[in-house]
Amino acid sequence: MVVDDDEAIRQMLAAVLGKEGLQVVTATDGVEAVEAFHRQHAAVVLMDIRMPRMSGLEALKKILEIDRGTAVILMTAFAEVGTAVQAIKDGAFDYVIKPYDIEEIRLLVRRALEIRTMRADIVSLRRELSERYGAEGILTDNPRMLELRQTIAKVARSNATVLVSGESGTGKELVAAAVHYASPRATGPFVKVNCAAIPEGLLESEFFGHEKGAFTGAANRRRGRFEQAEHGTLLLDEIGEISPGLQVKLLRVIQEREFERVGGSTTIKTDVRIVAATNRDLEAMVRAGTFRQDLYFRLNVVTLKTIPLRERPEDIRLLAHHFLERFSADNDLAIRGFDPSAMDCLLAHSWPGNVRELANAVERAVVMSTNGIILPEDLPEGIACRTAPNPDALSATTASGPARPLRDLVNEFETRVIREALGRNGGNRARTAVELAISRRALLYKLQEYGIGPAGRDGEP
Ligand SMILES: Nc1ncnc2c1ncn2[C@@H]1O[C@H](COP(=O)(O)OP(=O)(O)OP(=O)(O)O)[C@@H](O)[C@H]1O
Ligand SMILES: [Mg+2]
Repeated sequence: MVVDDDEAIRQMLAAVLGKEGLQVVTATDGVEAVEAFHRQHAAVVLMDIRMPRMSGLEALKKILEIDRGTAVILMTAFAEVGTAVQAIKDGAFDYVIKPYDIEEIRLLVRRALEIRTMRADIVSLRRELSERYGAEGILTDNPRMLELRQTIAKVARSNATVLVSGESGTGKELVAAAVHYASPRATGPFVKVNCAAIPEGLLESEFFGHEKGAFTGAANRRRGRFEQAEHGTLLLDEIGEISPGLQVKLLRVIQEREFERVGGSTTIKTDVRIVAATNRDLEAMVRAGTFRQDLYFRLNVVTLKTIPLRERPEDIRLLAHHFLERFSADNDLAIRGFDPSAMDCLLAHSWPGNVRELANAVERAVVMSTNGIILPEDLPEGIACRTAPNPDALSATTASGPARPLRDLVNEFETRVIREALGRNGGNRARTAVELAISRRALLYKLQEYGIGPAGRDGEP
């Protein structure tokens, strides 16, 4: 829409933009513009500021009240630039100073249209994300997990800080995402920081950003994660890993809702919902003096606890099928399902790595599978368990291949026996060593030799 009281300008702009393939309507002043806008929302409005009856500024406000997504570009005389700047604050897209270059107008309109399309894309992507990652995205048949899902939906409505705790691979990140996508902030950003993955010295600037020249290497001003997450949710993953110094700074943001960039003195207000996640026992860390109690209380307004997969066996089947479908589609493979013997293996495994381990196992099996159905031998070693050693899998000859060296077979067998024993003992190495009647040293040596992980839970490095 072109709005100007000067007929020559209206005609010229309409002609230029029409040539760009755009549909153009014109209006002679603010009143007419608002009326026309009521009939049909224009994507972009090019409007003079000084016009009879209703000024461009007034019309701007009325138009944005009708449709916040419209890009209004104001045309102003040099003497009135101050007004134009005020208009930007009121929500105008941009302004041009008269006399303007027609190429400038063309560019601005094109950019306004591009940004509009991108905004629409973002809104629809976020809507899709919220359908996929809302509480419903947490697949489960387990009563305690279903309860957790309901709690998420309830908690999401508030602005309360949330602490998600649970073993590695149990879906903490999924829960955090669900809190965001089920909340009124779902159309805002969901930003994650992995506190364990960023070197201690850089974490503060990662959180709060920095000013140009704040430290060696800070060539430009940078917005931190808090600023990026404005009006959305910030996930502080592995919160147990942050230093005492940063704990103090974080406490302040949570209490005062404000911070400064590193090397900066301006105080920045923040509207961010914080979700923290950890697989550590923060309470124990508070007792040990490595995590501040006041910060712990602030984070722990609501705690959501995820449940280890071994405590919800009904989910193994459900999730296995879910991952099978997903990875078959990802790899363009048509895998029908699990052979019952393979499913038995999955059900018998103790899943120390929880859902992530299950997802990895199924992904591998999908890729390895040769006949459209998952067999025990498609599963990773140690999951393809049998109570009695499976003579087929250990056979020195395969249907197609030659004899295998004795050493390989022995290693393979040992690996499997150790993995199974670890599984039965919940990953505890001391107990595993006792069960296998070998020394703990010998067990550690073999774990290393065979690259068996993840790390045990009995305090061994
Ligand atoms: N209930 C579930 N339904 C569907 N997918 C799940 C479920 N739980 C976990 N997953 C998937 O399992 C994987 C691991 O989950 P996630 O990353 O949330 O675990 P985590 O608890 O954050 O682990 P870590 O402590 O190692 O960071 C992800 O790919 C996640 O999508
Ligand atoms: Mg995680």
